Amino acid sequence: MKKSILITGGAGFIGSHLVKLFVNKYPDYTIVNLDSLTYAGNLENLKEIEEKDNYHFEKVDLLDEKGLEEVFKKHQITDVVHLAAESHVDRSISDPLAFVKTNVIGTVNLLNAAKTSWKKLDGHLFYHVSTDEVYGSLDDGGFFLETTAYDPQSPYSASKASSDHFVRAYANTYGMKTVISNCSNNYGPNQFPEKLIPLCINNIRNRKALPVYGKGENVRDWLYVEDHAAAIDVIFHNGTTGETYNIGGWNEWKNIDIVTLLCEIVDRKLGREEGESAKLITFVKDRAGHDLRYAIDAGKLEKELGWKPSLQFEEGIEKTVDWYLANEEWLKNVTSGEYQKYYDEYYE
Ligand code: NAD
Ligand code: DAU
Repeated sequence: MKKSILITGGAGFIGSHLVKLFVNKYPDYTIVNLDSLTYAGNLENLKEIEEKDNYHFEKVDLLDEKGLEEVFKKHQITDVVHLAAESHVDRSISDPLAFVKTNVIGTVNLLNAAKTSWKKLDGHLFYHVSTDEVYGSLDDGGFFLETTAYDPQSPYSASKASSDHFVRAYANTYGMKTVISNCSNNYGPNQFPEKLIPLCINNIRNRKALPVYGKGENVRDWLYVEDHAAAIDVIFHNGTTGETYNIGGWNEWKNIDIVTLLCEIVDRKLGREEGESAKLITFVKDRAGHDLRYAIDAGKLEKELGWKPSLQFEEGIEKTVDWYLANEEWLKNVTSGEYQKYYDEYYE
């Protein structure tokens, strides 16, 4: 059967990299990008592939059950890679219900649409893209393994943990073929500038304060976004159904060290005096319930499916800074909301 893959959240940060990878690498697949275009969804991210014959866009909300059913029918969807979500922890602290709606109810709606459409569940795959945050917080030692017990600490991670449980429940109860991956922090082009790295690059350029939560001692494991997309590709094609795969960069950084490094890189690239931007670092009130450390053991994915991060962090972060410095217009558009006109101008 010819593959017709529904990628949800394809206008967002990771989703747009995945859509580009699949559309370009698999011309025989039909790729359908379903996205409701929230503040985080930006079709400008997909400019380079929007004219391709094997690419289609559907502006549908995960809460629109009928809309989901119609998309499955119209495009004869054979498989799903589900990324659409509310993704920012700080927003989940101020509005948890929005995360329950999209991440939990939206995921169940999508599972139902797939179950209804796929009369025989064999031969179809429902792939859920999840996060390492479902495992909770580590202290100084150890790594998250696929067998680590779920212990989500924020409303965001609680909603992602819940959606993971629903995916497993659909496999167990209805025999749906599913796979889940849990990834660490991504960085790279096209990330909305509410997240630490693009926020800091943007603020350094504009000589604005760099808000570091608490003492900046929290640790995150950073992975270049295209390496995450490559891992999803490998798992989608070669992963074992019913399994979970952890994806990470073996690349732990304290927040304060990342922010300091970004100051150094941007100062060098903009020809500013050494140490100039570090003066912008401002320690602010800590995030409520701030997880101390995330660190992924990606050994299973490496051993079983042969995936490894391809980019060294030093190279990836230089590329990322270069991209944001060269794409000031993109940043202006997403921070002002201008980008949302793109759908009306191109699609309507
Ligand atoms: P993002 O916020 O950049 O993009 C999310 C996309 O989902 C947007 O295009 C948005 O318009 C769409 N969306 C949101 N609500 C929707 C709804 N109700 N209906 C339809 N579309 C909707 O997110 P991201 O950082 O690209 O993350 C993508 C996925 O990967 C998420 O599921 C996230 O939990 C997971 N993840 C992210 C990271 C990371 O570091 N960013 C790491 C691990 C896992
Ligand atoms: O681990 C995977 C997760 O990584 C994903 O599931 C989430 O979708 C993604 O948003 C990300 O979550 P974090 O909360 O780790 O990312 P964020 O960029 O918001 O923050 C990174 C670290 O930097 C975190 O310890 C909080 C801190 N921080 C963040 C911001 C926005 C600051 O100190 N200052 C800031 O202004």
